[in-house]
Amino acid sequence: MTLFDPSPELIDRHVKPDVPVCAFIHDLPALTQHAQNIVSLLPEGSEFFYAIKANSDPIILQALKPIVAGFEVASAGEIRKVRTAVGPDVRIIMGGPARTASDFETALAYGVERVHIESVHVLHLANAVAAKAGKKLPILLRINLSGPVPGATITMGGQPTQFGIEEAQLAAVLDELSTCPHLSFEGFHLHTISNNIDAEAHSVFCRAALQRVKTIARRHDLNLKVVNLGGGWGVDYADLDRRFDARGFADRLRRLLKPGDPVIQFECGRIVVAYSAVYVSEIVDIKTNHGQAFALLRGGSHHFRLPSAWRHRHPFKIIARERWPWPWPRQSHANGPITVTGELCTPKDILLHDEPLSGLRTGDLVCFLAAGAYGWDISHRDFLSNAHPERLFLTDPTAGRSTAERERIPA
Ligand SMILES: Cc1ncc(COP(=O)(O)O)c(C=O)c1O
Repeated sequence: MTLFDPSPELIDRHVKPDVPVCAFIHDLPALTQHAQNIVSLLPEGSEFFYAIKANSDPIILQALKPIVAGFEVASAGEIRKVRTAVGPDVRIIMGGPARTASDFETALAYGVERVHIESVHVLHLANAVAAKAGKKLPILLRINLSGPVPGATITMGGQPTQFGIEEAQLAAVLDELSTCPHLSFEGFHLHTISNNIDAEAHSVFCRAALQRVKTIARRHDLNLKVVNLGGGWGVDYADLDRRFDARGFADRLRRLLKPGDPVIQFECGRIVVAYSAVYVSEIVDIKTNHGQAFALLRGGSHHFRLPSAWRHRHPFKIIARERWPWPWPRQSHANGPITVTGELCTPKDILLHDEPLSGLRTGDLVCFLAAGAYGWDISHRDFLSNAHPERLFLTDPTAGRSTAERERIPA
């Protein structure tokens, strides 16, 4: 089950009247309750950070601030977003490839707790920037483990990718590290899997990764304070009822951890924010073209790129509406396959392919569920300069409009 499945009445109550509907709607109580549930399961000795790349809206960051250990960022811009939204004291850790000197300058200036280093060049760059600032920068080394890792939608390690330091090169990188007096080694980072929906497989991976880095630390006589096992707790978009078993995962982690173990960190994005938001968009035209049926939305992949980026069928529901303001008849689609597209001038702007739908009419809504993660944040929103969607953050979805809600529709 998803955590926010709004009724037609709720949508009508909150979206702008008299214009075609196009909105991301977030249920903030559902978000915070869900995040709290996850965090409360984790054993002592582990820390849960929120990876803001999944959704970096200030309202989301403010809602999560009291719940998570801190925020994981991937750029100088994300550092500034966190500091602006939730203040100077929250903990920030920083990862990501292709770093520049200004990333580290910003990290030092804004009090980032630790950075994750992914190559020899970046190691020296971080050391040079810290030396210039007269500071010592705590780091984790991100390892790209050898060998296959259990399946997931995207795999960042265990195979050739641009991420991390190949395990076989680690000894050489540790030699380089010994020439970097302005960096303090604190442990390893292993974000290897994205969207793993099998919690048991994920815990097997985490156990193996932990054992592997402990062996490496022993071999090189390293003091391992922190092991960051990344994010990747998955969302099954093909079956929203099938949820990552966070309780089972946490129980297995509890049994695994021993006194004296390093602090285990997680930096999850998707699982935190996906379920508590929808992207809802009105069908503004229906047509057939060369024998195929199309429903065209006031919106599209420039707001919600996830289905086309991942080439997956995103869960949705149709909301039939009676409202029809025009004197001419509504276009309709009796039944059969129909492709749902957006407002962009490209045939790639497709949200749903050949869905077997019946009774669709212009003015009905397509409501994409579990749209809170990697939706708006990864989308090319200004291509063609159509109006942005409303972005609504409901503090009490059962009530009418409240002052804490915010909507932003740039002119
Ligand atoms: C380094 C790193 N950490 C954490 C995450 C968050 O992953 P997820 O949203 O799958 O939990 C990502 C996502 O790409 C990442 O690259």
